[in-house]
Amino acid sequence: MARVVVTGRIPAEGVNALRNEHDVDAWDEATPIPRDELLRRVAGADALVTLLTERVDNELLDATGTQLRVVSNVAVGYNNIDVPACRARDIIATNTPGVLTDATADIAMALILMSTRRLAEGERVIRAQQPWQWGMFYMLGTGIQGRRLGIVGMGQIGAALARRAKAFGMTIAYSNRNAIAPELAAELGCTRVSMDELLATSHVVSLHCPYSPETHHLVGADQLAAMRADAFLINTARGPVVDEAALADALQRGAIAGAGLDVFENEPAVHPGLIDLDNVVLIPHLGSATIETRTAMATLAAANTLAVLRGESAPTPIR
Ligand code: DGY
Repeated sequence: MARVVVTGRIPAEGVNALRNEHDVDAWDEATPIPRDELLRRVAGADALVTLLTERVDNELLDATGTQLRVVSNVAVGYNNIDVPACRARDIIATNTPGVLTDATADIAMALILMSTRRLAEGERVIRAQQPWQWGMFYMLGTGIQGRRLGIVGMGQIGAALARRAKAFGMTIAYSNRNAIAPELAAELGCTRVSMDELLATSHVVSLHCPYSPETHHLVGADQLAAMRADAFLINTARGPVVDEAALADALQRGAIAGAGLDVFENEPAVHPGLIDLDNVVLIPHLGSATIETRTAMATLAAANTLAVLRGESAPTPIR
């Protein structure tokens, strides 16, 4: 039996699959495990099942001892893991791609509709019991039909958003390191453009790239200045892809029309300059937050862990 440390609460399906074969030590509080407790608990672990709230770095790997074989992240994003440090120790790192594609694309589409149609702003009026009256010019938003959606990072989630946006009548452009397969481009009816062209021509810019040193502040003051004044920025990727202070400033000045954010630069903190603005929709990192998706994520993370501990290939290793 191996020692598996699960660093945060995950759905029972995942923990039970691990318990069927191994000795499992799972942090079971609703709040993230304190760092010192984490460093203490991982001692002697053969496997770590981690959440994006836990930093997996050399300090943590050192604290495990010498027998750790797998770090299984219950997330598709893995910027919380020092993957080269794992590789240097022959530790397999895995993530959960695929199973949260639809849930995250749904949230991106929802943010597009919420921000362009001012839905959160409207709801705030009613909840604050402010007087309102139907009116020809009352709280007008912007239609998205025939408008261009620019997708930055055309992976599985970007493509799933493109399908949804196409059904809403949007045209799709994307910028990506590599061109996507011609069949997929034909299905989505999308055009590959440079980042500069995407920023200058899109009515909605939606971010779907992984976070890395290369994508840190990929959208900053210069990129916001390059966007159309009637454009919206959507971020369901990772907060630090956007310079949040520059975004708050651009929104305050009306340099862009609005934004919809599911992720933040210093989560759970949100830049104070965003809080009082009506032209930004703020939701608390809900991209994969459905019962079905979180269950699938936990099940896949358990499958990755069990496979490595059995000496088999992990279903979804980080490459
Ligand atoms: C992920 O899996 O990276 C998501 O951000 C979690 O919601």
